Amino acid sequence: MEQSVKINSKINVKPSRFGKKYYIKTFGCQMNEHDSERISGMFELDGMKKAESEDNADILFVNTCTIRENADDKLYGTLGQLKKWKSQADNRKLLVGGCAAQKDKELVRNKAPWVDVVIGTHNLTNIINLLNQSEDWGPVTEIIDKIENLPTDAPSIRESEFAAWLTIQIGCNNSCTFCIVPSVRGPEISRRPVDIINEAKQLVSEGVKEITLLGQNVNSYGRDLKIENKSRPYFRQLLEQLNDIKDLERIRFTSPHPKDFKEETIYAVKDLDKVCKQIHVPLQSGSSSILSKMHRGYNKERFLEKVDMIKSILPDVSLTTDIIVGFPGETDDDFEDTMDVVRYAEFDSVYMFKFSPRPGTVAHKMNEEFVPKEIIDNRFDTLKTTQTDISERKLKRFVGTEQVLLIEKISKKNNQIYSGKINSGQITHIGKENLKLGDLVKVKIIDSTPFFLKAELV
Ligand code: 5AD
Ligand code: SF4
Repeated sequence: MEQSVKINSKINVKPSRFGKKYYIKTFGCQMNEHDSERISGMFELDGMKKAESEDNADILFVNTCTIRENADDKLYGTLGQLKKWKSQADNRKLLVGGCAAQKDKELVRNKAPWVDVVIGTHNLTNIINLLNQSEDWGPVTEIIDKIENLPTDAPSIRESEFAAWLTIQIGCNNSCTFCIVPSVRGPEISRRPVDIINEAKQLVSEGVKEITLLGQNVNSYGRDLKIENKSRPYFRQLLEQLNDIKDLERIRFTSPHPKDFKEETIYAVKDLDKVCKQIHVPLQSGSSSILSKMHRGYNKERFLEKVDMIKSILPDVSLTTDIIVGFPGETDDDFEDTMDVVRYAEFDSVYMFKFSPRPGTVAHKMNEEFVPKEIIDNRFDTLKTTQTDISERKLKRFVGTEQVLLIEKISKKNNQIYSGKINSGQITHIGKENLKLGDLVKVKIIDSTPFFLKAELV
């Protein structure tokens, strides 16, 4: 009997690698993690199964990131080690994709000729074809400048059965001067609402309870769409349609851009029962002059107004942000402005980055104003110390409250404990007794640690 692979997909692959095992190493953001799920889907369509580690894999895919310099360094270090991996068994295949491959094009190939397939971010759905070509003709590189198939047309194998990502938009039309994303991911393209809703319904039919909408600038969703000349499908309308999907329990989204955050979106978060009360607003810097040099489209006061608006509509909201320390020309006063916003906004958590000049960006050319490393390190430590206190305090506010917890996985450290998230996104641990994965249960928060909450059933 012929074996078959059952994956919901619009992409046709004739399976030819039954019995082979693949492993994917992912660097970078959620977008990359989601792309890796799609690559898994393509590999499984081709008949392969996931290996527990790269040691017992026949095919290894490295999904690269280039957002900061250390991501690039990691890649070129990794490629050296992977030459050894390839030589440890016969017929192993090494594939490199993602943002660094897209950006560096021939560089990956030149630095690591032992890589079988180098593929960019725009043509992931061609991966099996390229793998076949490399077996027939030797190493191949395919990096194209424009998207062919939305990666969302590919099937996907998810890490979690109950929580899934859903891409609503790819690329970015902004021009933040530090950021490499627009040049590797291309201009903003929104998926049609009907495709998004259909994918969401499909996910729910597979048992998914929580969906996180993904895009570089989700609250500008739909700007590029015109459907039958009717009003554009704004983000709020999309949230409303998703909220109506039966048996979908939770909706999250990331990342919005502060300049495009409208009051109507905050009201949608408030009014739509399935939209989680958690908002990520990437600050980047609290200094108006640095924000202007970053080309962010808002200043300190506008950002604080947005924070006030969000908190007045959603008093219990969980707020998170991204901050870059040491952008070119950042003075002590500029940094103090950032600290001022941090103390005022009291974010639940902050993703902190040291400025990293990316070749090809405007900020890379500001080299005369680069801030010395020791100063960046000191400022980073100051920010970290202050924020760690705030984050711990913000977590403590949940102790004694009742929450709804989605049980997502078994804790890595203790197999008698489940780990999941409460509505506002905080990681929460609970004993396994009387529970199973996928349960959505009422709990009481009984304790907090610096990084997660502890709960018991009520
Ligand atoms: N240097 C440091 N941090 C950066 N980010 C993006 N580009 C850079 C860079 N060149 C950070 C921003 C962004 C997050 C995903 O990564 O804070 O929001
Ligand atoms: Fe980069 Fe700015 Fe686009 Fe975010 S909004 S992806 S930081 S250019």
